[in-house]
Amino acid sequence: MPTTLEVKTPRLVTALPGPNAQQVIAADAKFMSPSLTREYALVARKGHGAIVEDVDGNSFLDFAAGIAVCSTGHCHPKVVEAIQKQAAELIHISGTDFYHHHLPQLAEKLVATMPGRDAKKVFFGNSGTEAVEGAIKLARYTTKRDKLIAFYGCFHGRTLGSLSLTASKNTQRKNFGTLLGGVEHIPFPYAYRCPHGHTVETCGTEILELLEQQMFKRLFAPEEIAAIIIEPIQGEGGFIPAPAFFLQELQRISNRHGILLIVDEVQSGVGRTGKWWAYEHAGIEPDIVCVAKGIASGMPLSAFVAKESVMTWKKGSHGTTYGGNPVCIASAMATLDLVEHGYLENARKMGDYIFARLHDWPKRFNIVGDVRGKGLMIGVEIVRDQKTKEKAADLRDAVVSKAFHKGLLTLSAGENTIRMSPPLLIDEEQADFALRTLEECFREVEKTI
Ligand SMILES: Cc1ncc(COP(=O)(O)O)c(C=O)c1O
Repeated sequence: MPTTLEVKTPRLVTALPGPNAQQVIAADAKFMSPSLTREYALVARKGHGAIVEDVDGNSFLDFAAGIAVCSTGHCHPKVVEAIQKQAAELIHISGTDFYHHHLPQLAEKLVATMPGRDAKKVFFGNSGTEAVEGAIKLARYTTKRDKLIAFYGCFHGRTLGSLSLTASKNTQRKNFGTLLGGVEHIPFPYAYRCPHGHTVETCGTEILELLEQQMFKRLFAPEEIAAIIIEPIQGEGGFIPAPAFFLQELQRISNRHGILLIVDEVQSGVGRTGKWWAYEHAGIEPDIVCVAKGIASGMPLSAFVAKESVMTWKKGSHGTTYGGNPVCIASAMATLDLVEHGYLENARKMGDYIFARLHDWPKRFNIVGDVRGKGLMIGVEIVRDQKTKEKAADLRDAVVSKAFHKGLLTLSAGENTIRMSPPLLIDEEQADFALRTLEECFREVEKTI
């Protein structure tokens, strides 16, 4: 009989949370920061592929992947081997003060995934927020301007610089005092709720007008603006893709005024959308790209990649103790290899497979308002009423919780969206299980209203 980790779909052996899980949750409540936002009582112990086993021996199908981090699944043997080998050779030497061959090796590999005419340079950090912090600093340094424009609904991180850009939930900013000055937000094109009735192809036209006709004339002169930063698909904000034309126009406007276009690919990058980078779907070439999460299959690594003409800062302007740690880089090298040689194509193929199955959910389920995304970055927006589009956070939470009790791990995003961001290696059997489970949950939740 296969172990719970060798199965491809979940196996539940206790009520949830089981007795061991309850003990951990009690200890956690005593010692851990209460700011953490656990959505349900998963107490993980082991992981393999797209399966996570908890401390009571229950196994779950992971369609959250540690918030889109475990791109190659849990503990891929090649990733584990690379980490173990590197850990036995050299665990740390600071890349700020010393050289090691892994740094340019991974930088070259990363740059090769980003199409475009311009040569590019890389700075490695440890987390998504650090990549964004670095991008902000670089943009200000290079342009000698200090103003920044971001979008409502965006999430760029939780340290004070990136938090100044983040405009996702006010709890993330509340009580932290004054943030970075010179930051303004404009609406993000949200086709399902477009106030002008545009489709996903044209939504955002009026936002670009607002930028050029209002913001540039009344608030910030364009020559004061260092950068515009955007997620090509808003992640925490609700898995909302920006239309291709919108990204293209932002690039055109930015180029015209010497503003840098920063694309935050922390959640959408590394093959998740069926291309290396979600911005590629729009055919643009950003000035700075922020990368983290999926790049190292769970080891803490981030990067910002900038055009060579942009990354011109002087020695000592920016540095890090741990960023580009050799063990994390070894994990990233193995990860990029796996993505290049199969998982990127699988993400595209399985994304098509899943979208073909769920495109009619809004017709079949009254609580499903919208399905959207690309590849394996899939959002399902839950509403109380399809006509009024009233947001139904409570119903969304009920679906996410029911799915957990049936062995499927998903996460919420935005006010009322369910997000699916599985490892890039899932197969049809696993996709079928996830879709069937969510359909069951929708039916059960619909009976309650
Ligand atoms: C688009 C985006 N940028 C930045 C971050 C911050 O990353 P981290 O939590 O690693 O600091 C996140 C995290 O969810 C993200 O989704």
